[in-house]
Amino acid sequence: MKDFAGKTAFITGGASGIGLGMARAFADAGMNVALADIESGPLAKAKADIEGPGVDCLTFNLDVSDRGAVKQAAAETVAAFGKVHLLCNNAGVGGVNRPLDEADDSDWDWVVGVNLMGAINGLQAFLPLLKTHGEGGHIINTSSVSGLRVFEGRGQGIYATTKYALVGMSEALEQDLKPHGIGVSVLCPGFVKTALPDAARNRPDRFGGPAAIERSADSSLSAGAAAGMEPDDFGKMILAAIEKDEFYILTDSRERELIQARADRLMAAIDRAQERNF
Ligand SMILES: NC(=O)c1ccc[n+]([C@@H]2O[C@H](COP(=O)([O-])OP(=O)(O)OC[C@H]3O[C@@H](n4cnc5c(N)ncnc54)[C@H](O)[C@@H]3O)[C@@H](O)[C@H]2O)c1
Repeated sequence: MKDFAGKTAFITGGASGIGLGMARAFADAGMNVALADIESGPLAKAKADIEGPGVDCLTFNLDVSDRGAVKQAAAETVAAFGKVHLLCNNAGVGGVNRPLDEADDSDWDWVVGVNLMGAINGLQAFLPLLKTHGEGGHIINTSSVSGLRVFEGRGQGIYATTKYALVGMSEALEQDLKPHGIGVSVLCPGFVKTALPDAARNRPDRFGGPAAIERSADSSLSAGAAAGMEPDDFGKMILAAIEKDEFYILTDSRERELIQARADRLMAAIDRAQERNF
């Protein structure tokens, strides 16, 4: 996607952090922006921040794990702006940070419901709308560097399960959408300075409620986020990466060693398969 002015972006988790950084970058490029988020206060602030001459901002206070609400928002976005060109499946939660043998059912339901099913709901609602106008477009799925390696000792099991799934979904999507002129990128950032370590603030009651979850025992997560990349810088970087049709978007070259170690382990398994003559 090369031309942004006058086109429309829909961003989940757009009220804060990375989603808001993207929204600002897209609005600066002249796009109309629709934001969906579970937090109403920050959502209203984001709208006031983004709206300006030639840039409209529509907001939806919803839970991305609610498929009907996402479909309704898609219909209302098209009714308001006519077309949607850029979909950002970005809403996500972490903060469970428990070893998998200590995770309970509601931990799984919440994180899978938001991070994975939320993105699937976004695709199901918006893909037909992106294909129908024939002007092409782009889809961004926010995974994480935790979708490419698992950092030992951080209790990342559930989070990584969802983020690996988003990488697989994006790789398939890139192939499937090529004939339609719709590009795909998967964001795999390291630390970004956001409120993600406090994601439990948004845990809906049906998944156990905000009070039912302990804060991360690993303070390096909060420290990492506090020292991370600025969301607005990330937003600008994403805009430039969309223009160049980059697929994997990473932010932290210090991850090279861990990702390489995982790739080496896989290649060693290929070597063993070869020795077995398969
Ligand atoms: N911050 C980081 O270091 C980092 C690193 C890698 C990946 N990510 C990913 O980036 C994405 C954005 O997170 P962030 O870091 O900006 O954190 P954030 O908490 O600042 O933003 C997440 C947004 O999602 C919203 N949200 C949460 N649950 C929701 C739901 N059920 N429905 C709708 N909206 C919901 C929140 O209200 C919030 O506005 C997430 O998918 C996260 O996993 C973040």
